[in-house]
Amino acid sequence: MALILRESSRTFSEYLLLPNLTTRTCSPNNVDLRTPISRFKKGAEPAITLNIPFSSAIMQSVSDHNLAISLARCGGISFIYQSQSIENQVKMVSKVKNFKAGFVRSDSNLKPDNTLKDVRILTGKTEHTTIAITEDGTARGKLSGILTSRDFRLDNCDWDTSVSKVMTLFKDLIYARDNITLQEANELIWKHKLNSLPILDKNDNLLYLVFRKDFNEHMQNPNELIDAEKRLIVGAGINTRDFKDRVPALVEAGADIICIDSSDGFSEWQKDTINFIKKNYRDNLLVGAGNVVDKEGFDYLAKAGADFIKIGIGGGSICITREQKGLGRGQASSVIDVANARNEHYKKTGEYIPICSDGGIVHDYHIVLALAMGADFVMMGRYFARFDESPSKRLRIQGSYVKEYWGEGSERALNISRYSFGSEDRLSFEEGVDVYIPYAGKLKDNLSLTLSKMKSTMCNCGALSIKELQEKARITPVSYTTIREGAAHDVTLKEKDITPVS
Ligand code: IMP
Repeated sequence: MALILRESSRTFSEYLLLPNLTTRTCSPNNVDLRTPISRFKKGAEPAITLNIPFSSAIMQSVSDHNLAISLARCGGISFIYQSQSIENQVKMVSKVKNFKAGFVRSDSNLKPDNTLKDVRILTGKTEHTTIAITEDGTARGKLSGILTSRDFRLDNCDWDTSVSKVMTLFKDLIYARDNITLQEANELIWKHKLNSLPILDKNDNLLYLVFRKDFNEHMQNPNELIDAEKRLIVGAGINTRDFKDRVPALVEAGADIICIDSSDGFSEWQKDTINFIKKNYRDNLLVGAGNVVDKEGFDYLAKAGADFIKIGIGGGSICITREQKGLGRGQASSVIDVANARNEHYKKTGEYIPICSDGGIVHDYHIVLALAMGADFVMMGRYFARFDESPSKRLRIQGSYVKEYWGEGSERALNISRYSFGSEDRLSFEEGVDVYIPYAGKLKDNLSLTLSKMKSTMCNCGALSIKELQEKARITPVSYTTIREGAAHDVTLKEKDITPVS
């Protein structure tokens, strides 16, 4: 007969945190959210420490280079999705590694013999008024001049005039070479009262433009997650099939850490993949594995050599694995079980293996609960897919803006390597859905609100760090009526657009 666990599994919404004594030093400004992401020995430092405990899901609708850049600039990490060709994934990783804050590739470019009519058409499309004029009209061509809206009058010009007659000529331009820092570029901009500064290679080909208006925004990222060469840190997903080709290509592109992307990580395929990586790269390449939901899964992957272990089956917002296969476990129970296994492993071996709670975060306080229950960081899909920076389309439906979001186990993503066994080459049934989610704006704005809520909750719990939260937090399971009591109740909520009658 099957082994039947006594306790039913629970999820985050079934728990609340109890307040601890908040001392005078406990203020949100003093809360430190740094957290390890890779295995380390007692007394040593992990190879990578996140500045905030956030990672973005290995999904087509979530983690491309744009999201990875924005999240790393706020202190977290993205794992670029692997359900695409090696070549495309490598390009995305390279874009993150080569990103230079404030240095933008010109998106409005023309040739000297284009006319002002061409300018009107182009600016209508891009809504940008600084146009790089290059010999071949491309963003990387040899620079001939710069044209801005100040060079001609919209209400009084001959639209057939050629651009070369009105632009600022190359010989009169102030420009800089590639080795300049953002700070130095900004000083030149102020000294010469420029709106933008072209950055050129040694052959005068245009590389980037630096804009005056961008400077402040780019200097306000004290939490940026960067490597020793000051490049943004980025992760990448891999699978247990083409890893012998994919891993070397990702390493070459500069991926800082990789993670095996699988719905069920308690498998010999994961062990083989980790073995390959550790044999060929030793500790020079960090690899996460998962997903697991209990001690058995954790111990297996820890022994195989995983540098971090990801937890969660069936809890994702777009996931239908539990319905389709009857497989999974409430996310809170999974985290608690795996965290106990991790702590036992640490006691026995002196080796700390960070764990990541993946999926099922609905409210911001769920993140604090996951951390308090022992997770070192969380991975989220729906949360990030809502933002401007995610790769999916923004649409307007019945008057509201939404973004598309689809599971890796859906027909749309066709992530066969995540959802089928061995060398099976098709999805026989779906484990994920294709949906809309409310659009939420910019990543940075939303993240800063989430972080302030989290820090505030941690102060209520008397904790100034994630470690302290894990040591001190007191958590209670809650009844259904307690949950109802927690929302506004027995009142009539005011509709925002009602105007008072005098
Ligand atoms: P969310 O943050 O609740 O939206 O969950 C995101 C997580 O769901 C991902 O990190 C994956 O672990 C998992 N996931 C992604 N696609 C699917 C799917 O199609 N079916 C089941 N789980 C999925």
